[in-house]
Order: sequence, then structure tokens, then C-alpha cells
Amino acid sequence: MQEKVYEILKNSQGYVSGQEISKQLSVSRQAVWKAINALKEQGFVIDSVTNKGYKIIEYPKNLCKPVVCSMLNTKFTGRHLEILESTHSTNDDLKKAGHGGCENGTVIAAREQTAGKGRLGRTWLSKKDENIAFSLLLRPKLSPMEVSGITPVAGLAVCKAIREFCNIDCKIKWPNDVIVNNKKLVGILTEMSAEFDAVEYIIVGIGINTDQWEFPREVKDKATSVFLETGERVNKNMLLACILNSLEKEFLKSNYRINESNIEEYKSLCATINRTVSFIRGGKTISGKAVNVTGSGELQVQLSDGSLCSVNSGEVTIQGIY
Ligand code: BTN
Repeated sequence: MQEKVYEILKNSQGYVSGQEISKQLSVSRQAVWKAINALKEQGFVIDSVTNKGYKIIEYPKNLCKPVVCSMLNTKFTGRHLEILESTHSTNDDLKKAGHGGCENGTVIAAREQTAGKGRLGRTWLSKKDENIAFSLLLRPKLSPMEVSGITPVAGLAVCKAIREFCNIDCKIKWPNDVIVNNKKLVGILTEMSAEFDAVEYIIVGIGINTDQWEFPREVKDKATSVFLETGERVNKNMLLACILNSLEKEFLKSNYRINESNIEEYKSLCATINRTVSFIRGGKTISGKAVNVTGSGELQVQLSDGSLCSVNSGEVTIQGIY
């Protein structure tokens, strides 16, 4: 109901009466009034004048469902969207929803996470309204062996959306991060629930630093935000909608893989390719030059003897980057 009332107000130049809205939506005046109040609670400033009706004066600065939904051009991504004021972790919330059978493309976002999860057991800072934190549930028809391309494709989609919408020269740090000027702007944590040879669901959790003007001492040299890079507060609703649109477009184009449809673009946006990287194998640190990313998302590293070595997870350090 809120979304419908929002659409009517957004699309009209002047004031719209409660009677007109109730007529258009075939609902009671009371229901319209409730929806208006719910919109106000989410940060809309709505003027109401006797005998004239309602008009939006100001849009919410923080994440707000009707605003995001009105900008989606997706078939399934974000078509079921929930925006929470505060939660522990959107990945954990979506896992519960996934077990409960929620639909492919369901998104849970939060204005704040109190126990945001990062990779390798780390925490992810998500202070209120300083970032975009959301998780997307996918039910692709892939076997557990075939899902490893999802994270790099998600990284590509997010990187492209931020480049376009925020005009930031960001790059992908294989496999999970989007970086700018060697500092992390976005982190991605992908989790899977599978049985035998079938994937039940995949959760792609994405955190984008948007509004932070400073970071705690421990991460200060490694992290950045859209605000720090551009000096401007980004419209988080528009950015989230752009990212969801981009994710679906890239997933459908590539069928959730790195392949001929996206490999050249991926390589051109990947800060790891052509760099000297190090990783740990069998307790030893191995170094080489990153030369390619395979269909299943593995990083191919050329060692000093010319041989190729595939790295599929864990921590890869790029010389000169955090
Ligand atoms: C990383 O770089 O370590 C991954 C960070 C992933 C953070 C996101 S924020 C939304 C989603 N919910 C979580 O608890 N984590 C992911």
C-alpha cells in the first residue's frame, strides 16, 4: 500500500487529495492516511493541506523500501525486499528466510548491523546509515560445483554500478572486494546451503561503505567510503537500486559464471590481474603474477618457472595493496 501511495504522490506535480488516492487504489481514506503516516515514519516529509491533500516535500536520505522499489527494473532481484532499521546480520536473517522457502531474488537490507559478518570470521562494521548492507538470496539451477563464479560476477556487477552511479574509478580485488585507490570500498560474503548435488540457495551479502568520514584506527589505511572519495553524500536508495539492477543483468547475461560474455570486462576492471600476488599453499608463501580468472572464478597465477597455479579461495595478497 505504501508503495502505491508513494507512486501516486511521486507522479503528481501538486497536491493529491486523500479522496483521489483512495479512489485510485479502491481503499478507504483511513488506509490512505495510515500509508501516509508510514511513509513519514520512513523519512518522507509530506505536506498536508486541508481541501488540497498531500504533497511530498522531501525524500528520505536513508534506505527506504518504496523509493528503492520504484527504481528497480528487475524480474526477480529485490522484488521481495525488506529494509530493517537494525539487525545482527542480513546474511543470517536471509538464511532463516531461505530455510523458510523465500523466493529467488529476495533481498534483506539493513540501516544498521550490530554483528555484520566479514570473510574469514572477521566482523563487518555497519554503523547506522553510514553504509549499504544487504543480502540477496538466489536459487540458481546449478550444482554446488558450479556456483563459484557467483562471487566474481557479483563483484563485477557492483563495481560497474558504482563506477557509473558514483563516478568513482573503482576496481575489483579478486575475488570479493571492490577497491578504490588501493582501499576497500565494498566487501562481499557469499554463503551457500546445499544438499548432496543440489544447491538449496546462495546468499550474496554485500556491504558498501557510503557515508563514513573516518574509520577506526585499525582499518583507516585499508578502508574508504563513497563520501571520502567524492566529498559527496550519495543517494543510498538510488545506489542500491542501481546495484540490484546491475546484479540481475550480469547474472542473467553470464548464467552466474565468468565466461566469454564478461571475462574481458572482468579482467579490465580487475586490480589483481597483471600484479604480483602471494598466497599460502601447504604452509608455504608462494608468489607469482596473476594472469587470468577461470570460468569458475579461480585466479590463475603464473609462477617464476612459467607454470600456472589456480587459487580458488582464501587470502591473496597483492603487492602494494592491503
Ligand atoms: C568481507 O569483505 O569480509 C565481506 C563483508 C560482507 C559484509 C556484508 S554486509 C551485508 C551482509 N551481511 C553480513 O553480515 N555480511 C554481509
